[in-house]
Amino acid sequence: SAEPNYDYVIVGGGTSGLVVANRLSELEDIHVLVIEAGGSVYNNPNVTDTNGYGKAFGTEIDWAYKTVKQEWGGGTTQTMRAGKALGGTSTINGMVYSRAQKSQIDAWEEAGNKGWNWDTLFPYYKKGEQFQTPANYSWSEGTGITYNPAYHGSTGPLKVGWTPTQLNDGLAQTLNKTYKSFTPSIAYNQDLNGGQMLGYSLYPSTVDSDLNIREDAARAYYYPYQARPNLDVWLHTTANKITWRNGTEATADGVEVTLSNGTVTVVKASREVILAAGALKSPLLLELSGVGNPDVLSKYNIKTKVNLPTVGENLQDQMNNELAWESRVNHTGTADYLLKKLPAYAAQIASANGNVTRAEDILRFFKIQWDLIFKSHIPVAEILVEPSGNTYTMEYWGSVPFSRGNIHISSSDPAAPANIDPKYFMLDFDLHSQAQAARFIRTLFNTHPFAATAGAETTPSLSTVAADADDASWASYLKPNFRSNFHPITTAALLPKELGGVVDTSLKVYGTSNIRVVDASVIPFQVCGHLSSTVYAVAERAADIIKEQM
Ligand code: FDA
Repeated sequence: SAEPNYDYVIVGGGTSGLVVANRLSELEDIHVLVIEAGGSVYNNPNVTDTNGYGKAFGTEIDWAYKTVKQEWGGGTTQTMRAGKALGGTSTINGMVYSRAQKSQIDAWEEAGNKGWNWDTLFPYYKKGEQFQTPANYSWSEGTGITYNPAYHGSTGPLKVGWTPTQLNDGLAQTLNKTYKSFTPSIAYNQDLNGGQMLGYSLYPSTVDSDLNIREDAARAYYYPYQARPNLDVWLHTTANKITWRNGTEATADGVEVTLSNGTVTVVKASREVILAAGALKSPLLLELSGVGNPDVLSKYNIKTKVNLPTVGENLQDQMNNELAWESRVNHTGTADYLLKKLPAYAAQIASANGNVTRAEDILRFFKIQWDLIFKSHIPVAEILVEPSGNTYTMEYWGSVPFSRGNIHISSSDPAAPANIDPKYFMLDFDLHSQAQAARFIRTLFNTHPFAATAGAETTPSLSTVAADADDASWASYLKPNFRSNFHPITTAALLPKELGGVVDTSLKVYGTSNIRVVDASVIPFQVCGHLSSTVYAVAERAADIIKEQM
């Protein structure tokens, strides 16, 4: 048959890629191809089971990327999970649907991204959403679930709601009373998806409440639309690099792929190539294509097509430690101390990456982050209470660590593992906030009425980390025992070029005429919510931007 002629080739059929594919293929004369390394997981119980979190880890649908040894993170090597399947990481994630604090998204514009703020993004959170009203389900009675209908969309593809496994044993009410009695700032939050996240809340999930199965990007954005004649998906197909149109300009004309049978071929894109391979893959594909730091590329004999040294820089993740519940914490008292340290922190980050990102730019972002913490009072930790049998597991993370690392290729072979270095715990504030959250959780367990339901602390236990432990003592528990929070972002930053950005406000890669990145790589700052809702919203908006520019 004739070589198919695609207008847009989307690399990665994950959370973002399928949103863009769906929206572009609404236009009947636009031909869209999605290239996805994984397969369909429609009938995979490790995906569909709403209580199956973790079951897919280590299976063939988990990329299980490895970091380099974490110098400041207890010498550990972290596994950074990511979904390798149609639907991407949305097929293996924790399904939590929580957005961001309004001021955090407004900070995108403050950092120089004109037109990217809460008011422009909020309609896209709603556009994608198909909210399932809990009152329609008898099991929601007594659970304590509340919501504000103004914050939710009803006609989007992505089902959001609660599951029949939501507890109605009074725990929510007990926790609510407990929080109220020891810190009024943690009031009950009726609905955390309207831009105000501080407080205690029962979060919704990406779930089909009728069927009680996971709602992932493929179920929402692909399967109901797969009959569209202008939308193709190639499964088990891996993109190796972008191919260039002849000439000096950096214009993509296609993608080199390895098909499921091992054949290497080039698929042509007459309009654009859109990278949506995730924050731990899209920057690598840019480098393999000659877009990046010439010092990195030349090491592997890759000719520089576009000199853009910050590709792969600014990698940010959070550190997850175990102790769990559902709320947002705000601690104070460190504002002045931290403000004074910011220049030294910025210098440390710049020097750790060979000054590829400049200290003065990093300092600018850090001041924005400092304002978010101490002026807008964003939640600085998330704590999940996970009751199970006779145990409360407390899982938590500081939501806005300052440390920034990077990710780069280690070879010109696209199949080779990358050098992934999030530099967890590089800056002592990150340790301090992780320790503060642990102290906060201990206070929670000592406060009534919740305290009455809790026995002795088993992890880490008071004999391992004393009640009055300082940060250094907490470090000896936290550093060897943390894990990646699986929220990597900013490796192809949406920022002005002169501040180290990789994509402009239309998500186009600087120096290229027709390559965009649309996935978690572009998100410039960490959010207090979980990432996928923001990833979906950014992809929804990206699709509109692409349509406007057709
Ligand atoms: P995503 O990973 O979805 O898509 C990338 C796609 O590209 C994948 O399908 C991949 O196979 C494909 N691909 C990669 N390289 C390729 C190549 N060379 N060729 C072809 N295809 C390629 N968020 C949340 O909101 N709530 C939660 O509870 C959680 N919990 C959670 C748990 C775990 C374990 C993880 C790993 C992550 C979360 N997250 C989360 C985070 C959230 O799920 C995540 O940030 C987004 O799904 C990322 O979406 P992207 O579109 O950026 O990448």
